[in-house]
Amino acid sequence: MPTMPGLGETARAIIANGMGILAADETVSTITKRLSAREIESTADSRRAYRELLFSTPGISEYIGGVILQDETIHQDSAAGIPLADLLVGRGIIPGIKVDAGVHPLAGAPGEFVTEGLDGLRERLKEYRELGARFAKWRAVFTLRDGRPSATCIHANAHALARYAALCQEQGLVPIVEPEVLMEGAHALARCEHVTGRVLQAVFTELFAARVTLEGMLLKPNMVTEGHDSARQASVAEVAEATLRVLTRHVPPAVPGIVFLSGGQDAVLATEHLNAINALAGPKPWTLSFSFGRALQDEALDAWRGQRAQVPAAQRAFHHRAWCDSAAALGRYSAAMEGEAGFAPADSTLHTHH
Ligand code: 13P
Repeated sequence: MPTMPGLGETARAIIANGMGILAADETVSTITKRLSAREIESTADSRRAYRELLFSTPGISEYIGGVILQDETIHQDSAAGIPLADLLVGRGIIPGIKVDAGVHPLAGAPGEFVTEGLDGLRERLKEYRELGARFAKWRAVFTLRDGRPSATCIHANAHALARYAALCQEQGLVPIVEPEVLMEGAHALARCEHVTGRVLQAVFTELFAARVTLEGMLLKPNMVTEGHDSARQASVAEVAEATLRVLTRHVPPAVPGIVFLSGGQDAVLATEHLNAINALAGPKPWTLSFSFGRALQDEALDAWRGQRAQVPAAQRAFHHRAWCDSAAALGRYSAAMEGEAGFAPADSTLHTHH
């Protein structure tokens, strides 16, 4: 099938020159948990202020090519009355939108989940495109425990991802296909690699069956890591090698980009992993970048504390993390960068986007 005009260009633009994606598409309930954990009240306006802080960070469009919004945010305006999606576009950042309706218990598979949201999706995609979205996201999750994920769970989620991706392409949006093997549990690296491979294989089988144009999509997978509760910590090199090996085995080279989720990894470790993957020798037919949520935002949220006076400090923290992650997407990150500013608040000339 020929590539749909525009989709491949958009997919590549989001991740050009070491840029990655800011996942700021936490649902109201998820962002409320993250704000409450820092004793920040969660209201429509505090959520708007927080997202606006991130999106208007000086110089950020050097490192962030796309931002994933959520339904509430794409309908919100900045303090100055500009729709937040337009604010991004004005800064040269491509807006995207989370379109799945979350995970729900999967019938016939106790303890497992399927991501819902296909009903009415075509109409929602049309609306989001009018509001400025040029790409979309749908997240499926897989838990590793006692023989899970089952074949039933893998198949149901892969099928839904493929139907979502086909609908996105029909409506002129680049689908980000996100199958996430969760870090919950005490599993070993090898088991994560095995299951990630099974999941990716099923996803690409379903994408092919649904006639999705691979050139016009992005894949958002987990890195291959040990479970959070594993006694052993894999080295950065082990994570990088296992991750690249599983992608090489299961992701066709026609896919222009792979943007990793951070999945609860420590922010610096996620940066080190991305850098190590890019620094590995051997063929890497796709651009390997980031679509981090927590790993990009945690330090900024800690710095902000919900206080207007803290906005510059929060923006500095966000800018610094994005600078490091972008270097990692190019395989040029070094630990020394953690101690460098990468951003001088008074120095708006150096870091203003042109
Ligand atoms: P994390 O990087 O915090 O895992 O979030 C990425 C994301 O969008 C999960 O769906």
